Amino acid sequence: AAPLRIGIAGLGTVGTSVVRMLADKKSELERQCGRPITTILVSARDRTRDRGIDLSQIQWVDDPVELARSPEIDVFVELIGGDNGPAMASVKAALESGKHVVTANKALLSKHGVELAQIAEENGLLLNYEAAVAGGIPVIKTLREALAGNQVSRVFGILNGTCNYILTRMEAEGMSFQECLADAQRLGYAEADPTFDIEGHDTAHKLSILTSLAFGCQISAQDIYLEGISNITPADIKAAANLGYRIKLLGVAQRTETGIEQRVHPTMVPTSSVIAQVHGVTNAVAIETDMLGELLLSGPGAGGNATASAVIGDLADIAKSRPGFQHGPVFGRPARELAPYQRAR
Ligand code: NDP
Ligand code: HSE
Repeated sequence: AAPLRIGIAGLGTVGTSVVRMLADKKSELERQCGRPITTILVSARDRTRDRGIDLSQIQWVDDPVELARSPEIDVFVELIGGDNGPAMASVKAALESGKHVVTANKALLSKHGVELAQIAEENGLLLNYEAAVAGGIPVIKTLREALAGNQVSRVFGILNGTCNYILTRMEAEGMSFQECLADAQRLGYAEADPTFDIEGHDTAHKLSILTSLAFGCQISAQDIYLEGISNITPADIKAAANLGYRIKLLGVAQRTETGIEQRVHPTMVPTSSVIAQVHGVTNAVAIETDMLGELLLSGPGAGGNATASAVIGDLADIAKSRPGFQHGPVFGRPARELAPYQRAR
């Protein structure tokens, strides 16, 4: 069968891992999808940088928007980042020129997700974003597909690998906040601007996406009560431990009688609780529903390979879909039918 031809914009931590894994897993993916997934075009800012990956068979395009519009590709993979600028321009250009899109960009989806979903749905295209929330954990598929018919009452968890890595090492090894953050950056966990991690914005972006999926409403990140971890000191962590608690940065969204409540803040959780046992870059998402009770998903929440795993899963879904097949809605129900966001009073 004809290969699925992809173009990737952004060759940083995630983009380079995706290129490498698509090459390493070529035959396995072909077996699973019934056709090859082939990287045709790539784009990043600096054409001259050695990225430790083989780009010899792949064409370079300077402008990600030009790449997104290229008739040579079937799918555009956006791994640039940012809630506007080249990420937004290229994703929009891809959808408007008939390309499926895969993105890991939660900042973009949190701000423009519903608008982009509408364009995708009107054009019969897929907009897949499993990597945007909780790295390698398949939480989007779980909410969008596996929990059909369930009424979700609450979704909460550890959604930022950088913060959990910092809090874990501060407690276990007595390291300073700055040392832990520098390590998280070196390991490729942190955002290009790590303020987004430590001040809770990244968790809020992810939570707002989960809220829309869980409660079938418009995305509203600006409504989220927000407090990050930059003011957490070793003394706070010690005091919590003495009382039998651990400090975790949680994102929580729940249905109340008056509307939806969303918050992101450091939380003292009992040391014996399951969520307190989630260490390092691991994320965990708990989903409470009427039919299922509580479901807990945990796994690697950031880093090149974990994130590439989710991106490649999204690509495989597209490779397996067939021409003429009607794709499901991006947020589990048609974007035009998402309920207005109603904030809890
Ligand atoms: P990086 O900062 O490592 O990489 C960003 C890439 O985008 C770089 O290759 C950069 O080019 C390229 N880029 C920036 N501006 C432009 C532009 N104007 N035109 C073309 N290319 C451009 O980011 P990550 O790989 O860490 O993250 C990518 C996306 O994935 C972000 O949305 C992030 O939030 C998300 N994500 C990241 C995870 C992680 O663990 N790192 C996990 C889950 C999601 P150059 O290299 O030449 O500077
Ligand atoms: N900076 C993010 C984190 C990347 O640390 O969780 C994964 O979304």
